[in-house]
Amino acid sequence: MEFNAHVWARDHLQQWKQGRVTAREEKGDARLITVRFDSDGREAVYTLTASEADEGEGTKQIKLRNVKGQAGVLEGANVDDLIVLTHLHEPAILYTLEERYKQDVIYTYTGPILLAINPFWRVPLYSNSILEQYKKDGVNKAFDPDYQSALPPHVYATADSAYRLMSKPTSERQKRNQSILVSGESGAGKTETTKIIMRYLAILGGHDSRALLEGDSTVISIEQQVLQSNPILEAFGNARTVRNDNSSRFGKFIEIDFDKDGFLFGAAIRTFLLEKIRLVHTSEQERNFHIFYQMLAGATEECRKRWQLAPDPRIYHYINQSNCYARRDGVRDADLWEELQQAMRVMGMSDEETDCIFSCVSGVLNCGNVDFDDAHTSKSDELIGEPRADTLQFAGIVAQLWSLEQEALLKAMSSRRIKAGNEWFTVYLDAKKCRHSRDALCKAVYSGIFDWLVGKINNTIDRQRRGAVGGEAAGNSPAGSGLFTWSTASSLTNGSDALHSSPPPGDHMFIGLLDIFGFESFDQNYFEQFLINYANEKLQQQFNHFVFEMEAVEYRKEGIKWDFVEFPNNKDSIELIEARPAGILSLLDEQCIVPRATDQTFAGNLYKHLASHPRFKSGHDLRVDYKFMVAHYAGDITYLTAGFLEKNRDTLHQEGLDLVNSSTSKFITALGAGRRVYVIARNVVMVLQARLRGKMARRWYESERNLRASIRLQTWIRMRMLRREYTWEKRASVRLQTFVRYRMLRRKYVTKRMRVIMLQCVWRRKLARQEMLLRKREAAKVSALQAQIMAFERRFKRFEAERLAAEQAEAARVEAERAEAARLEAERLEAEQAEAARLQAERVEAARLEAERVAAEAARLEAEQLEAERLEAKRLEAKRAEEQRLAAERADAERLHLEQLEAAQAERARLAAARMEAAQLEAARLEADRAELLRLEEQNQQRAEELEALRQAEAASVARVEAALRTNSRLSASTPSVSFLIMCGFSWWRMTLSCEACVEHYGIFVVDVTLIIR
Ligand SMILES: Nc1ncnc2c1ncn2[C@@H]1O[C@H](COP(=O)(O)OP(=O)(O)O)[C@@H](O)[C@H]1O
Ligand SMILES: [Mg+2]
Repeated sequence: MEFNAHVWARDHLQQWKQGRVTAREEKGDARLITVRFDSDGREAVYTLTASEADEGEGTKQIKLRNVKGQAGVLEGANVDDLIVLTHLHEPAILYTLEERYKQDVIYTYTGPILLAINPFWRVPLYSNSILEQYKKDGVNKAFDPDYQSALPPHVYATADSAYRLMSKPTSERQKRNQSILVSGESGAGKTETTKIIMRYLAILGGHDSRALLEGDSTVISIEQQVLQSNPILEAFGNARTVRNDNSSRFGKFIEIDFDKDGFLFGAAIRTFLLEKIRLVHTSEQERNFHIFYQMLAGATEECRKRWQLAPDPRIYHYINQSNCYARRDGVRDADLWEELQQAMRVMGMSDEETDCIFSCVSGVLNCGNVDFDDAHTSKSDELIGEPRADTLQFAGIVAQLWSLEQEALLKAMSSRRIKAGNEWFTVYLDAKKCRHSRDALCKAVYSGIFDWLVGKINNTIDRQRRGAVGGEAAGNSPAGSGLFTWSTASSLTNGSDALHSSPPPGDHMFIGLLDIFGFESFDQNYFEQFLINYANEKLQQQFNHFVFEMEAVEYRKEGIKWDFVEFPNNKDSIELIEARPAGILSLLDEQCIVPRATDQTFAGNLYKHLASHPRFKSGHDLRVDYKFMVAHYAGDITYLTAGFLEKNRDTLHQEGLDLVNSSTSKFITALGAGRRVYVIARNVVMVLQARLRGKMARRWYESERNLRASIRLQTWIRMRMLRREYTWEKRASVRLQTFVRYRMLRRKYVTKRMRVIMLQCVWRRKLARQEMLLRKREAAKVSALQAQIMAFERRFKRFEAERLAAEQAEAARVEAERAEAARLEAERLEAEQAEAARLQAERVEAARLEAERVAAEAARLEAEQLEAERLEAKRLEAKRAEEQRLAAERADAERLHLEQLEAAQAERARLAAARMEAAQLEAARLEADRAELLRLEEQNQQRAEELEALRQAEAASVARVEAALRTNSRLSASTPSVSFLIMCGFSWWRMTLSCEACVEHYGIFVVDVTLIIR
């Protein structure tokens, strides 16, 4: 790895990052490589061993990068085939796939294999025009072997090449049926890919591809029927899981049959390992099979009534356990229900058949709601399961839907008949066991429905082929004995045969499509995950076999070195699972027939027989919970053994079978028929297997024992020989050692002794010399001491003289001090007297100063008083002036006020005069009014008089008129009414009428009448 080389390196989080080599250092055999990451500029040091360093490609932690722009080196999204990458390793593959995925390019080749990444949205890659392009490309390739396709990788191309190889093989080797294997973990997109391939093949091999291209579902062709098998199988076999909303809970192998001209003429579907446990137990965030939700969401009111479905799905135990009812992918169950109905019609199912199917499905739902309580028997203290009163109604519904007796149904769920000697006894089960047999019954009915549907589909889409091969149906047949033959796990072990069988009799070929459930790893993995992962192991083995081993054969044939290619071989993990007699499955089968065996005893057996297997792990932490771990090709998975035995047995007891057979519905009994054959066959097989296993185990055990005995003997002999040889050799060596040690010791002793003698001589001489020296030192010390004593005496005498002189000097000094003290005392007394005189003088001076200060103060106070008086006088004068000014102002104001008052009085007087004037005017006016009034009264009087006069005149007139009437007979008809009205003095209109009537004859008279009324 050169300095400045572009590399991929794993960082501390184990993620691949791009970087450059910034330093290389040799350290012993190893080489230290420093890499600086492009993203954050951080540096990390990697150690390469000598061999790794020589390789140049890198290690597990650091790899050479394909650099863009370098001659011949490709990187990124434009790499259609990973094989063209110069450095092909994990980070390069991941980087390329990621770059392509970012541009929605989900397909990439790696040699003949197509890698697909789930886009999780409808990428525009499947339009009819794109399909036509790949179709044309396929034709070109078929006719011109040198034709180079320019189209990008696509699943259409893979499907196309399988079709071309099948219909027009380019060599003898390729002349065989083809299979496309779709593999990947759960939710990777296998089922979607399978459907895309099916559609492509149906269009390619169809007689009328127009209807398929345009999505015309009214044309019922064999191609349509092949495609329409999907909605049915998905409704009954798919479910929402944690990872995938439409996860297939069964495996399927679809054989699409083509005649010699390449036309599609039939298909066969084989299903296996339906996850039946999902029916009775649904985990968190998961749903039961889609059909229940589709039925509850889409069935019409009439159907609901017929199938006795409740409106609320939450009441059903089988679907309310996980409290999860909806799909996250936006697909509506009601829409799928419609699609299912259409698919069933296309598949040729009669209304009666669909009705029976949904009655059974509804029966399963309702049966799940039948529950039991524990009760004590009267005779003993034994517990037996009694159907709960509030759930009996569901038993009634189930009995009705499955055409059974309710009593028989409850009995089958709550009791068993066992044979002791020649007699049969009935044993009653406790509530827990009752629930188990209820679930077993439901699982049997549901899987019967599923198998029936698969059989029906096969019958429909396989009819033509059966005709071609002489009526031998290869697929499942409804209610036939072949119903369960594909459902057993053993068919998996023969997977390779099924996938690559030679062409069947006749001129037809097929393309097989294998879509299984993906590898699963959850927090808790059970028997289902174990089987699914086992199936994936087998598939991986198949893959290894074809891709690597076959390739190796080709290499060797062409003389190319193959040894350097390492590929993961999962042979040993498959061995761990299926070896006999001590593989996981064999041990499980064995436990299933051992009386009183439990999941715990099974776990114990696994630990005992498989603990040393490299792919099997069972540490103490796992054993505590009866778990075990298998190192699969895709990773380590821990399995819980809980439920392994029960699920592996998957037994429906005789009571359940009898119950199903007692149904008056032919459909229900047909579901049970296959099951019965299967159960009998399975039991026979199990007994045979157990016997065989027993024999084999015994034989194995004996050979093992013999082998062990011989090994033990050999070991013993070898031990004895070794011990003898060892003893002889040991003795010889001890003797030799003793001799050698003796000689060495003697030599050592002599030399040591000589050295001691010499040392002693030297020592003695040294001692004599030391003694002499000591003596000399002592003599010197004595003379020194004498000199010291003499010097001391001299010093003592001198000190004595000095002491006497000092004493005399001290006495003189004391005398002088005393005289000095007397003098100082006299001075002090004198000073005190002077001080007293000074204080007296000061006091006199102070008294004088005080007198002066008092006098000055009195004068100042007097002056101040005078000043204050002067100021007071001045202030009083000013005040007086101010008062005078204010008085003048007040006088002015009063004058003004008086003037104003006068003006106001004048105004008032003026107003009073005006008012007076107005009053006079008013009085005058009133006088005038009164005069007017008087005048009017007079007038009234006058009028009254006039009126009286008029009345009198009227009376006179009336009298005159009457007289006239009496005299004039011609007027007699009209006058009475006039006279009547006038007399009564009444309403104007009548008067008017009467007057009008009179006008004609008596004009002046009428005017008079009017006046009267007013
Ligand atoms: N090619 C694709 N285009 C669009 N969506 C896809 C494609 N493949 C898979 N999916 C999406 O992923 C989901 C899971 O795919 P599926 O085929 O059911 O997974 P698997 O069978 O591997 O468990 C589908 O429901 C679909 O939404
Ligand atoms: Mg699937």
